[in-house]
Amino acid sequence: MKKVIVLNGSPRRNFNTAKLLKEAQKGAESAGAETEFFNLYEYNFKGCMSCFACQRKGSTTEGICALRDDLKPILEKCLNADAIIIGTPVYFSYPTGIFRSFVERLMFPNHTYMVDKENGGLKRRLGDKIIPTGVIFTMNCPEELANQINYNIILDENVKSLNHIMGYAEGLYSYDTTQFADFSKYNCDLFNPEHKHQVQQTQFPIDLQRAFDLGKKLTEMN
Ligand SMILES: Cc1cc2nc3c(=O)[nH]c(=O)nc-3n(C[C@H](O)[C@H](O)[C@H](O)COP(=O)(O)O)c2cc1C
Repeated sequence: MKKVIVLNGSPRRNFNTAKLLKEAQKGAESAGAETEFFNLYEYNFKGCMSCFACQRKGSTTEGICALRDDLKPILEKCLNADAIIIGTPVYFSYPTGIFRSFVERLMFPNHTYMVDKENGGLKRRLGDKIIPTGVIFTMNCPEELANQINYNIILDENVKSLNHIMGYAEGLYSYDTTQFADFSKYNCDLFNPEHKHQVQQTQFPIDLQRAFDLGKKLTEMN
């Protein structure tokens, strides 16, 4: 049976990012996958510690970070999965720190500093193996503004490096999300609650469907 790992890089377990990830999970299951969902904030781990155990000559790490902490078994599952789907809210224009710590630990042991003389660029440690990877970003920003302030470029960089290391990566962007369940409880006049409600009712269901389709598509790729 195919295995798909879903990873939530938001501290909130059931808000925008998690909701989209759960739809992507359903999409993967609809394509016959067995899935596991991890809330990354529940685990105790750091980013890459630059120990280079994975880059040494004769390294036996086999694409799994040598650090022994809560993340190791999750990284092992990711490397053995048929697809992985990671989500993150945008915090001050970037993915969350937890998301970055996770992808550093996933990517560096599968990164090489060896030149691919035949094809150019760097050799892939995974060779011909592809672990299709979905990256779901959620943000307050409406799409037009996000593009004006270069969120597309910043966020795409995360997708591009995963695309190289994992063999395939695709981003899904959910804009203009609803941050607060009840806007009246917060000091906030930047957002119009009616507009947010409308986006929640009209656009977010479309994003949920896109997330479902992404989970299904990635699962079917392997
Ligand atoms: C610390 C923090 C920083 C944020 N920075 C941004 C930002 O720079 N741009 C943006 O569009 N939204 C920003 N947001 C809003 C979240 O990205 C947005 O509400 C997201 O959908 C939340 O995801 P969640 O519901 O899964 O927690 C920020 C939220 C927090 C808590």
